[in-house]
Amino acid sequence: MEPQTICYRPIGVLHTPFADSEGAPIQPAGARGVEGEAVIDPAYAEGLKDLEGFSHLILIYHCHRSGPCRLVVTPFLDGRPHGLFATRAPARPNPIGLSVVRLVGVEGRRLHLKDVDMLDGTPLLDLKPYVPEFDQPFGPVRTGWLAERAAEAARRRGDRRFHRSE
Ligand SMILES: C[S@@+](CC[C@H](N)C(=O)[O-])C[C@H]1O[C@@H](n2cnc3c(N)ncnc32)[C@H](O)[C@@H]1O
Repeated sequence: MEPQTICYRPIGVLHTPFADSEGAPIQPAGARGVEGEAVIDPAYAEGLKDLEGFSHLILIYHCHRSGPCRLVVTPFLDGRPHGLFATRAPARPNPIGLSVVRLVGVEGRRLHLKDVDMLDGTPLLDLKPYVPEFDQPFGPVRTGWLAERAAEAARRRGDRRFHRSE
């Protein structure tokens, strides 16, 4: 079968204080309290009904400024090469980013957010309510090579070396 090309249209745009990767957080855990905004396209405004009852959202977005994808990457936190799919590096075959953020207010088409880790101007592909009963995994969680690094990763801010590859 021929590989399919899938074309998505953004539903809105994400605004954050991060103009570029230098100094941007690595994950929402490293962006605690950082305020941002999702501005939803008027065509989708009706779909926001009842969203204000949720405290957290799952944002799915296009990492529009990511570089070329490499299948082996060396995160600066670790210094050892890892398979791309064992990392959260943004430069992927389909550069999709995923963040669980706090929803602090809904004002028309503007969603006021906290804990944002993406770059300003990032196109938003979708948003979904975070529901612990649906989203918390069963059983013990293993975090592979990140086990020793996750706490540090959560605190650290990104820089260009994050995209270094072997
Ligand atoms: C490790 S990624 C994680 C992103 C998301 N939380 C995830 O797990 O998919 C975080 C880094 O992606 C980069 N980034 C965020 N938004 C981006 C965008 N729109 N284009 C390119 N890179 C982006 C920033 O450098 C940030 O430090």
